[in-house]
Amino acid sequence: MTENDFLSRTNSKTVENGSVTWQSPSNIALVKYWGKKENQVPANPSVSFTLDHCKTTTTLKFHKRESPAAKDEDIDFEFYFEGKKKEDFKPKISTFFKRIENYCPYLREYHLEISSENSFPHSSGIASSASGMSALALCLMSLEKELNPEITNEYFNKKASFLARLGSGSACRSIEGSLIEWGKHADLSDSSDLYAIKYPYKVDAVFQKFQDTILLVDKGQKQVSSTVGHNLMHGHPFAEARFQQAHDNLHNLKPIFATGDLNAFMNLVESEALTLHAMMMSSNPYFILMKPNTMEIINKIWEFREATALPVCFTLDAGANVHVLYPKKNKVEILEFIKNELVAYCENGQYICDQIGNGAKKL
Ligand code: DP6
Repeated sequence: MTENDFLSRTNSKTVENGSVTWQSPSNIALVKYWGKKENQVPANPSVSFTLDHCKTTTTLKFHKRESPAAKDEDIDFEFYFEGKKKEDFKPKISTFFKRIENYCPYLREYHLEISSENSFPHSSGIASSASGMSALALCLMSLEKELNPEITNEYFNKKASFLARLGSGSACRSIEGSLIEWGKHADLSDSSDLYAIKYPYKVDAVFQKFQDTILLVDKGQKQVSSTVGHNLMHGHPFAEARFQQAHDNLHNLKPIFATGDLNAFMNLVESEALTLHAMMMSSNPYFILMKPNTMEIINKIWEFREATALPVCFTLDAGANVHVLYPKKNKVEILEFIKNELVAYCENGQYICDQIGNGAKKL
């Protein structure tokens, strides 16, 4: 499908007003998206586990205006976060609406009231853009479906992912579960830079119930915004090699997912996480987003894995928090290790137990 397939047709129904609520999860990338081109096109393909507990719930109320907003006017909306009107979140949503207005021209006809809340603390350092933008995109698609009831579920999900991507790249991987790929890759004929797809090949049962315990090492404001971060890859001395590596890693994951080879999985996932940070450390300007406690945790995980041979590994986002990944069948002993040895490195001892989930839900 191309961008043109997502341009809206004439509405087949008239809708005066209504309300819809979606709950959409966060996701954690195994092969990282880092670097993008114009129009939210990723510089390399990525793959992620959809999460289950870290999610955003968004309600969209829509009322038809007396006349549609003019071409030079902004789309008419208000935004509430956890029940309070939030002016400072509006610019990001305005930018999103500008990017999608050709694909959702019906938005001009409505006054929109968007109310959002997260299941995780806002200041936890957990990016809410993936869950937040995907929840909003799904709400918009529900309005589109009321206007055009004939659209198929497949189109609904694809366009939701397409719109979510225009809000925040990683958000396109939060519509469905549980293993999701985004970005054109030679091995995946249905893959696209425009939207994410369900990983189409065999995935061993061991990955289906994977656990992700998120250790909140530093709950502070992000030191590097994702926009700044992705821009660091323009003119980066290692950019081309990194983008090629992401393609290779996705290729190498195919037999790993199929056979459940946990050693190879852990090796690849940790290498991806450290490469992401290595890209930030070797860009100009350069950043170190890991904290001393991030390093302590990584070393403890390596020592524990060496001593016990249990399959536990880590991945990182563009921040100091650590995602500890392990199969469900080892949950008891690994959670005990986390509580005894890792939680001490978390800010105020805070961590979140999550697991792989099945994607967004309409409430
Ligand atoms: C490190 O999706 O937040 O989490 O498209 O600018 O909104 P924007 O970026 P964003 O970047 C996520 C980067 C990452 C890796 C990943 O999730 O793949």
